[in-house]
Amino acid sequence: MATVTFEKATRLYPGSTRPAVDALDLDVEDGEFLVLVGPSGCGKSTSLRMLAGLEEVTEGRILIGDRDVTDMPPKDRDIAMVFQNYALYPHMTVAENMGFALKIAGVNKDERAARVLEAAKLLDLEPYLARKPKALSGGQRQRVAMGRAIVRSPQVFLMDEPLSNLDAKLRVQTRTQISSLTRRLGVTTVYVTHDQVEALTMGDRIAVLKDGVLQQVGTPRDLYANPENVFVAGFIGSPAMNLFHADKADGGIRFGNTIIPLERAALDAASGTAVTVGVRPEDVIVSTTGTEGLPVEVDLVEELGADGYLYGHTEINGQRTDIVARVDGRSHPNAGDRVHLTPKLGHVHAFDTESGLRLVHAIVD
Ligand SMILES: Nc1ncnc2c1ncn2[C@@H]1O[C@H](COP(=O)(O)OP(=O)(O)OP(=O)(O)O)[C@@H](O)[C@H]1O
Ligand SMILES: [Mg+2]
Repeated sequence: MATVTFEKATRLYPGSTRPAVDALDLDVEDGEFLVLVGPSGCGKSTSLRMLAGLEEVTEGRILIGDRDVTDMPPKDRDIAMVFQNYALYPHMTVAENMGFALKIAGVNKDERAARVLEAAKLLDLEPYLARKPKALSGGQRQRVAMGRAIVRSPQVFLMDEPLSNLDAKLRVQTRTQISSLTRRLGVTTVYVTHDQVEALTMGDRIAVLKDGVLQQVGTPRDLYANPENVFVAGFIGSPAMNLFHADKADGGIRFGNTIIPLERAALDAASGTAVTVGVRPEDVIVSTTGTEGLPVEVDLVEELGADGYLYGHTEINGQRTDIVARVDGRSHPNAGDRVHLTPKLGHVHAFDTESGLRLVHAIVD
């Protein structure tokens, strides 16, 4: 087991003007499950590949435990990687696929068989050891790819979108299996996904990347409750946080015809005459009779059993602004209704409109 440290790790691809990963500083604790998340092209795979030794580090350093691995060949790093496409050898059986890396490493036949069997038991693959990959389901193939990583007992697991080839239901089951398995084994894991739900459900901590730049690192709860900037606020959470401009007013910000109080320090810190306000759908209070707050016309209500989501729009400074609110799944307003929305007090996020940085420091539940 080991820690992983990125120290100002940068990757500039030949011919590009902007680094794909820009001075990444990140510490992964021993035994931790860290998820790297962000939109397509933000540098997740590049970060993982630098850690694996498959991509050159242009500047900075990478350490596994106390070892500086920046210039070390992949085979000496004591890591195992699980890729999106599994890359199983089609002509080999499951057992041969799982034991291949051990064979290359010169491990004898008996020990190989024992380690493969142990991993197969962990992954419920024992009945399939003699089969070829083409005779397996997608989920079973995914488990063979995991098994191939496990048998090597590496110090670090690296996983790049390992669930993206599975259908939605299997993805949910498999993500639970992966997180409980890696925790049971206690192996430090760096897991890449573009799916924020996967990140929230699997990670001990989450690191959010955008355009090669680290935006925030924290527990799922931290990132959800206290996003440090507008990007993280909008990226983490589904449906996404409502974000809109609100004019400063005396002691707070304007929310339709009412003023929502905001800390003096936050208001003073904001650079312009307006701030960007964020309210999560579950923190919006919908009133069908009241006249306080933002007047909203309901466009659609999505019923999801116990809960529902109300999608509506309003006008803020002459601009059409869409808003989502969580409502009761059975008793709620309908399309065409006019309602008034106010935020739950103490659950208003505020960001500087120019820099996008958080103004209110902590939201306490
Ligand atoms: N071999 C390469 N040569 C030049 N540019 C590259 C190379 N590989 C990736 N890039 C660029 O580097 C940036 C980061 O790519 P990367 O593959 O790390 O993104 P990602 O976050 O994994 O995206 P995705 O979610 O789509 O897999 C992108 O702009 C991409 O076009
Ligand atoms: Mg990628």
